[in-house]
Amino acid sequence: MKKIYAFFVGVMLTLMTNFTMAQAHKTRILVLIHSDNGGTYEIAKEIAKGIEREGKAEAILKQVKQSANPKLKDLPIANVGELPNYDGIAFGSPVYFGNISTAMSEFLAKTVELWSQHALEGIPATVFMSAGSGAGKELALQAFWNSLAVHGMILVPTGIMGNEKIDKSIPQGNTVLGTSSLAALTNTERPSSSERYLAGMQGANLAKIASALVGTRDYRMLEQKKKAAGRGESSIHNRLKEKNITLPKVPQPAGNYQPYVRSGNLVFINQVALKDGKIVKPGKLGVDVDEQEVKAATEITMLNVLAVLQDAVDGNLDRVKRCVQLTGIFNTEEHYSKHADLMNVASDLTVTIFGEKGKHARATFGASSLPVNSAVEIQAVFEVE
Ligand SMILES: Cc1cc2nc3c(=O)[nH]c(=O)nc-3n(C[C@H](O)[C@H](O)[C@H](O)COP(=O)(O)O)c2cc1C
Repeated sequence: MKKIYAFFVGVMLTLMTNFTMAQAHKTRILVLIHSDNGGTYEIAKEIAKGIEREGKAEAILKQVKQSANPKLKDLPIANVGELPNYDGIAFGSPVYFGNISTAMSEFLAKTVELWSQHALEGIPATVFMSAGSGAGKELALQAFWNSLAVHGMILVPTGIMGNEKIDKSIPQGNTVLGTSSLAALTNTERPSSSERYLAGMQGANLAKIASALVGTRDYRMLEQKKKAAGRGESSIHNRLKEKNITLPKVPQPAGNYQPYVRSGNLVFINQVALKDGKIVKPGKLGVDVDEQEVKAATEITMLNVLAVLQDAVDGNLDRVKRCVQLTGIFNTEEHYSKHADLMNVASDLTVTIFGEKGKHARATFGASSLPVNSAVEIQAVFEVE
């Protein structure tokens, strides 16, 4: 009887954990392109809009290498290593001789390590292309599928979805494998409104499938990384161990906000001196607490920031590219002026852990009161992979 009870409790806990993970996790989908003339980029934007249409998924648009096209100058460059971190990937490329483009092919050629680690297995993927006349477009889309199938990705085709509504009086880039655009055709602007429409549907369809699969994927790769970190193979993890620094549990939000927000490659975090649900050394400097106590509170606050950051990079702090800015706000009396000394505790800790990457811009100021009577609040911005 006891065994049956334990079994049911176990099942319920697993289901609740999966449900909570799915709830907490906004589906993140990478839209990864190469584009020279901007045709693929135009379709990529429609795919991204489709992904975000229902509000359940976030589209992250990146390119495989810097394009010479000025329209794409601000589009971030993707790292091969970041691919396993997404819940879905939409790949886009120009058609080159009935195949994917050289830049996309070179990028995929760098995924051998991911392949041997099964890192992309089970991630839903879809493909789209910009062609000239469209000669060989299905061959090219199929070629995309070949590489992704070898990775064990879940290939999401377009079939004939949306075809009822497209303008059939002109040639369109619709195919059953993915949307394309016939960029060289001159009788209408390309991508045509029908091609844009199909791309939006394709993005929305990928988001639906990726969202349904959140929590079901074999996170073998991420687990391996975490284990590797435990063996000291992650350099930042190593440094934390060497310096005897233990990151706390991520404090739960006390209001209608997120512990962090990632926008593009930037992560934004705000924390106060919370430890085990209580504010450490609360109050106003010079009235309730002295400088040493505020420094202790500052260290705890910065450790909270780093714990949240660790969550934002799926446990792998090696994915932090740099600390961009720290802002320290201290609960002080009117004439206090040594905020910089207090904030050095947070800055020193950041540089100790991240070295050169930890050097940051900084602002400090005093406030007449702070939330939950914390002596300090830290706002932080990090750039991550
Ligand atoms: C080397 C090369 C090969 C190409 N091969 C084809 C092809 O086989 N079929 C086709 O329709 N267009 C072909 N094109 C045209 C491109 O696919 C087309 O210009 C596309 O819109 C470029 O995409 P982009 O605007 O994102 O750079 C080729 C272009 C180049 C540079």
